[in-house]
Amino acid sequence: MKESLMPELELVSNAALRQKVVDAWTLSCSMGGYKRLEDIPTECFEQMPKISNIDHQKGTAHIAVAMARSLKDLGVQLNVDYVAAGALCHDVGKPIEWRNGQRGIYSTATGAGTFYGENQKMPSFAKHSSFQIARHPVWGFYVAVAVGMPDHVVHIISAHSLEGQFLFRSREALIVKESDEIWWEQVAYQVNGKWPDVESPLSKGRVYRYRKLDWRKGR
Ligand SMILES: [Fe+2]
Repeated sequence: MKESLMPELELVSNAALRQKVVDAWTLSCSMGGYKRLEDIPTECFEQMPKISNIDHQKGTAHIAVAMARSLKDLGVQLNVDYVAAGALCHDVGKPIEWRNGQRGIYSTATGAGTFYGENQKMPSFAKHSSFQIARHPVWGFYVAVAVGMPDHVVHIISAHSLEGQFLFRSREALIVKESDEIWWEQVAYQVNGKWPDVESPLSKGRVYRYRKLDWRKGR
């Protein structure tokens, strides 16, 4: 587990917090039925089979820590360790949201009851958006509390996604949320060679977030 989080795990300078990152992924993998971090799929995995969730966590941590260090250099008070740990764990709930080969309770427009993870029967995210009884930020909150993460890191994990719009995000949480989106809009595009095409009930019929933006032409 620890090896799969390296070398980015070293971005967390505090040894106790570093161990909690390992503990969090160990717990979520065992709850979700995954043996290796590399086997956990990313969102849109039907469109990006070569990118694993852990690649996404590590890439997001790179972006987030660079942003946090730059802001600190400019005099902004924040905790870089919280940013690093929060970024490395922001999707720690995904193995539980998408359990590997285990039946899950979820809702779509057409009904409920299928398998998650690599199972081909899982409905396409792009068409149905299938959610467990709770999405990954909620499972992530549970995991982070269970392993004794500091409250600031629990907040980063639970507020990084859509659920966080109902909260006042901390500085650290805002950095991780933006880094997560930057990863999707820039890194995933480069690696995948095309934009993931995602439509969700939450987007109210629009394809959201993964639009191709060109600053020279405007939106
Ligand atoms: Fe993410």
